[in-house]
Amino acid sequence: MAQNGVPGVGGRLVHLNTAGAGLMPETVREAMIACVEREAALGCYETEESLDDLLQGEVYRRLARVLGAPVEDVALFDSATRAWCAVVPRLRLGASDRVWVTPYEYAGNLISLFSLRDRTGCRIEVVPTLPGGDLDLEWMAANISDDVALVSVTHIPSGCGIVNPVEEIGRILAPYRCFYAVDACQSIGQVPLDVSRVGCQLLTGAGRKFIRGPRGTGFAYVAPELRAVLATDFHDLHVAHVDSPTRYRITDTSARGLELAERTTAAVAGLNAALALHESGTPFGHGDVFQALYATVADTPGIELIAPGEVQSGIVSFRHAEIPADVIRRRLGERRINVWKITGNHTPLYMARRGVETAVRASVHYYNTLEEIDVFGTALREVIDAGDDR
Ligand SMILES: Cc1ncc(COP(=O)(O)O)c(C=O)c1O
Repeated sequence: MAQNGVPGVGGRLVHLNTAGAGLMPETVREAMIACVEREAALGCYETEESLDDLLQGEVYRRLARVLGAPVEDVALFDSATRAWCAVVPRLRLGASDRVWVTPYEYAGNLISLFSLRDRTGCRIEVVPTLPGGDLDLEWMAANISDDVALVSVTHIPSGCGIVNPVEEIGRILAPYRCFYAVDACQSIGQVPLDVSRVGCQLLTGAGRKFIRGPRGTGFAYVAPELRAVLATDFHDLHVAHVDSPTRYRITDTSARGLELAERTTAAVAGLNAALALHESGTPFGHGDVFQALYATVADTPGIELIAPGEVQSGIVSFRHAEIPADVIRRRLGERRINVWKITGNHTPLYMARRGVETAVRASVHYYNTLEEIDVFGTALREVIDAGDDR
């Protein structure tokens, strides 16, 4: 509802928080509602059975096409973090192994790497950046060697809009032993991405952001050579069969072996609809809107942009010396404009270096318009002019 009587644009919400979660398209909502209604009318298992081809086939084929991956190498999860945690903690590393991360690594991934380090004794090293914030690729090329077991690069971080050059990094790493992991949570659906061009062995992402799927969906591409070296953990009943009192047999050696069998049917159906929309050719059209957003924020008096790197996309973070991020966010929200207050500790390595504890994050997708950015710009100036009147 419009508060303070001030609408977004024509009474509509201005959603500048796709980096949190995108607005779900009609087709996604319809697919999910139809699924839940069918469950209520027929029963959950019966609904699952009736949607067997979609749930066991179509959604995987779509995801594989969107990622440029073989279908047997993709798996579905209920979040990007679950996808990451299905793979990375199972790496059999030792004290002689080095793991490279970048300053843009997501905090959840770091926590899992820290616990891997504590269990295995591996060393975690942070790839340096150039003064403008870009990753130092020359350093990477000069220092990569076969004692690096894993290199993790976040394509676009959650806290700012830098687009890291994942294909170029893939080319640097290709001759070496390391596995290459790309966190595509903020980039999938936003910028073109193809695992065969990136050359990674792991790519994880969430369905709810720039793909516009529902919450509770995530996915991974896991190359066969990476799956082959993971410590065995657990195989659920969709991929394994207990065939004697003491043994089980794995019936499916695809990446789906990393999934759990139980999931929310409506969420998978919704993700399938979102992937179908993505495939139909709507994405990647936010360049001019992003430039307008960036310029609008940069031109607002008293604002500090948090925008490292030469190549930027979709996400602009900023802060004001006197007005806290939550106040700016709340005041914009009262004008029906969604932005988000980020905390530095979600992208801790970069943000700590920059001294950022909190900031405002505005993010755009192809459904945002120049008119919306105009409305946002005017509102932001009003909020800044009003000062911190908590
Ligand atoms: C870059 C990045 N990686 C990983 C994640 C974790 O995704 P999820 O919340 O689906 O686990 C996020 C969430 O915002 C993110 O921005």
